[in-house]
Amino acid sequence: MKFIHMSDIHLGEPGVLVEGLDPHIRLNRALIHIVENHADADRLIITGDLTHWADAGAYAALREAITGFPVPVRLMIGNHDDRAAFLSAFPEHPRDENGFVNHAEDLAVGHFIYCDTVAPETHVGHFGPDRLAWLARQLEESHAAFLFFHHNPLHLGDPATDELSINDADQGPLRALLKQHRETVRHIFFGHVHEPLCGTLAGIPFSGVPSTLHQVIPNLAPSDKSGSAALEPSYRVVLLRDEDVVIHQIPFAWDGPVTWHGNAWEDWAKPGA
Ligand SMILES: [Fe+2]
Repeated sequence: MKFIHMSDIHLGEPGVLVEGLDPHIRLNRALIHIVENHADADRLIITGDLTHWADAGAYAALREAITGFPVPVRLMIGNHDDRAAFLSAFPEHPRDENGFVNHAEDLAVGHFIYCDTVAPETHVGHFGPDRLAWLARQLEESHAAFLFFHHNPLHLGDPATDELSINDADQGPLRALLKQHRETVRHIFFGHVHEPLCGTLAGIPFSGVPSTLHQVIPNLAPSDKSGSAALEPSYRVVLLRDEDVVIHQIPFAWDGPVTWHGNAWEDWAKPGA
């Protein structure tokens, strides 16, 4: 199975720049790139920060952009989104019994579980007892699970951005639940960080994905500031094959030169040697 992990598209009203960049042009470019190169993907999963200021026009533009898209799309919300504004643009979107945008689906490779970590008017992630109980039920029904969050569910060693992870009070019980299901959870995917990240959480592999817009430059020094810049944007292609998870980072907006080599020994020979 192949799916696309994209995140933090940060749409404003069409024509409005965000961090000096046009998020609609970027999204459009990414979608075209997917159609041209990965139209065989089974899912396009966007792990939150669909918009920058939760404008109705931004959600409407997103709806238009993905309507009829050849790859089935799954949406999640992030700290820049507003749950009510999102649901008024996507009223048919599934949610859990408490109204959170938690949803899940069974695919041949396992249970895909999309978690809502958003709380109103804060950039900090939340995953309290009601959401945790929903996740616990999902995991109990899974033989193999792939988890998706917007916020990172663990601290990453970057003091400023760690303040904006899932909050400390909610992280502990979430970690305990994940450890309980360590054999079931194959991978944790998240957005929010705007940087290429990988590691393990209590032995469970995780990956954070760059944004299609602006990127965060890790600041591991003691600081309450995080820096962002217009570095190369990417989405990820994830291949799930039997026991394996393989993740490729795709710099879809690169328009500089590319050098192509064959695999023969001579193809890498020193010129003139
Ligand atoms: Fe973001």
